[in-house]
Amino acid sequence: MSLTSALRREARLAPVSDLEAISNYGRVKPGLIPMWSGESDLTTPDFIRDAAHKSLNAGDTFYTWQAGLPELRQALSDFHRRHFGKVIDAEEFVVTSGGMHAITLALQATSGHGDEALYLSPAWPNFAGAAGLAGVTAVPVPLIENEDGWHCDLERLEAAITPRTRSIFFNSPSNPTGWTTDLDTLRAVLKLARKHGLWIIADEVYSLFHFGETRAPSFLDVEEVGDRLIYVNTFSKNWAMTGWRVGWMRGNVELSRTFENLIQYSSSGVAEFLQRGAIAALDDGDEFLKEQIAHARTSRDMACRILGASNRVQFSVPTGAFYLFFKVDGVTDSNKAVFDIVDKANVGLAPGRGFGEAGEGYLRMCFQRSLSQVEEACGRLASWIARYP
Ligand SMILES: Cc1ncc(COP(=O)(O)O)c(C=O)c1O
Repeated sequence: MSLTSALRREARLAPVSDLEAISNYGRVKPGLIPMWSGESDLTTPDFIRDAAHKSLNAGDTFYTWQAGLPELRQALSDFHRRHFGKVIDAEEFVVTSGGMHAITLALQATSGHGDEALYLSPAWPNFAGAAGLAGVTAVPVPLIENEDGWHCDLERLEAAITPRTRSIFFNSPSNPTGWTTDLDTLRAVLKLARKHGLWIIADEVYSLFHFGETRAPSFLDVEEVGDRLIYVNTFSKNWAMTGWRVGWMRGNVELSRTFENLIQYSSSGVAEFLQRGAIAALDDGDEFLKEQIAHARTSRDMACRILGASNRVQFSVPTGAFYLFFKVDGVTDSNKAVFDIVDKANVGLAPGRGFGEAGEGYLRMCFQRSLSQVEEACGRLASWIARYP
């Protein structure tokens, strides 16, 4: 008997990421332009790194506040006041080891073995993966794409609710589609959750990356006291801090005491020097963030213009996040296609299949890179598309 077969079933059967397979294959190729993962090509800005350095050099190497440094929780509260126009008590926030950790804790807090959790699909696969590990069945509810873009079908969402459903994981702006919800949909989802006694796990990590007039609509705009809402978020995207593994959750003050306990029994908290960097990001990072959002808009427009010039490519123009999710005539097996693209175009894309069955046939490009790279990569892709299959 192999040792693996003696492991817990859920651990053994946790899906291997399709993205890992292609990035492991392509990352060693000279000159490859990697657009498969969801991150900017910039290193974290100096003022954030300096704050972390300073803290580390000052000897901040001890156990620290599990829920997060009080100054960081206050900085999160100030950030929400500035960007969302909401006054939120600092104690409603807890600091986690990245957005993924926040999602895991939100799942642990709301569901367990035999329960179900709904999510919109195509979707970043980690929610479903984490649910499966916890013995929770993640049930995909397909977003619908038509000539006006992607849509959330509320009737389908309600039809997917069963007596076992505990939560709805709601990600907008969406990775991978770039779809952004409107306020009416948020109100309707909240109404559904109230009616059926469900939790909403609100993943709004891209809410400032929105290409409308202002930030994306948020549950913060429509929530009322007593709503079963847990927000999960991260420093990764806004401030180019993917490698730091720092994020946050927000419930109410009472919930955050429970979340603090969950932190105790998972990571036991985030290193103080990382938290000092995170404070600098929140306090001094608005200008950087503004530049990043403007950049995402310009690179989105460039990618859409270059790839849109081909009559063999179809996509809905993303209204948020920093991904282009597109179809190419003839691509039916997206896993196969991304390997061919690495070999022939030297560009790294994520296969749509990695975002669930509803993503098959699509390819995902992260365009949050330098404009020269976006231009070069899209040019190479356009040549590949012209020749495919
Ligand atoms: C929709 C969504 N939520 C959450 C995360 C998690 O972010 P991280 O774990 O890097 O902080 C990501 C990362 O790609 C994401 O795309």
